[in-house]
Amino acid sequence: MKESLLFFFNFIRHPKSTGAVFPSSRGLAEVMVEDAGLDTAATVVERGPGTGAFTGVIAERLGDQGNYLGLELREEFAAIVKEKYPHLRVVTDSAEKIVENLRKLDRENADAIISSLPWTTFDPDLQNRIMKSVTDALPSGGKFSTFTYLHAARLPAGRRFRSLLDKNFSEVRVSRTIWRNLPPAFVYHCTK
Ligand SMILES: C[S@@+](CC[C@H](N)C(=O)[O-])C[C@H]1O[C@@H](n2cnc3c(N)ncnc32)[C@H](O)[C@@H]1O
Repeated sequence: MKESLLFFFNFIRHPKSTGAVFPSSRGLAEVMVEDAGLDTAATVVERGPGTGAFTGVIAERLGDQGNYLGLELREEFAAIVKEKYPHLRVVTDSAEKIVENLRKLDRENADAIISSLPWTTFDPDLQNRIMKSVTDALPSGGKFSTFTYLHAARLPAGRRFRSLLDKNFSEVRVSRTIWRNLPPAFVYHCTK
């Protein structure tokens, strides 16, 4: 409840970057990790963990052999995730800085990137910059998973984002809709 309130107040203060009124559901978390390549990933980056709606599920799938790096813009969200999962590395930084933060861990790239960023609130320039940071950080065959709300996918920014995915990935798979998420959402599972 406390986390949902914090999320809500962040949405009021920063609607564009928070992008949602409440944290995502467990159902959406499970679909996000379903085909995200976590079973074989040595390094996974989560962008925009918020209060950690997906983080625990990612850590369970990743197991002991995998490295996790979380990049969260808001310090108060990062602090919550660090407190819940003290063994995971969470950095307060922009999601654009994937490669820079991987280098600090002596890693060249990530095998999988899971993103919760609210793409449809971003202008074309920011969408392009953030997409470039994803493709720069993934090797060929690397996995990228991101969700979108059903209603937002039909808006011009949602359509533009979909075409950006088609341009940058060799495969883009659309998951089933998670109707019980508020609002209903689906996941794009992409392979570079
Ligand atoms: C829609 S919320 C999702 C939060 C959480 N993963 C969930 O599903 O409940 C988007 C999250 O992305 C973060 N965010 C937005 N822009 C960001 C950026 N440029 N870099 C890192 N995090 C960002 C927000 O602070 C917020 O935590």
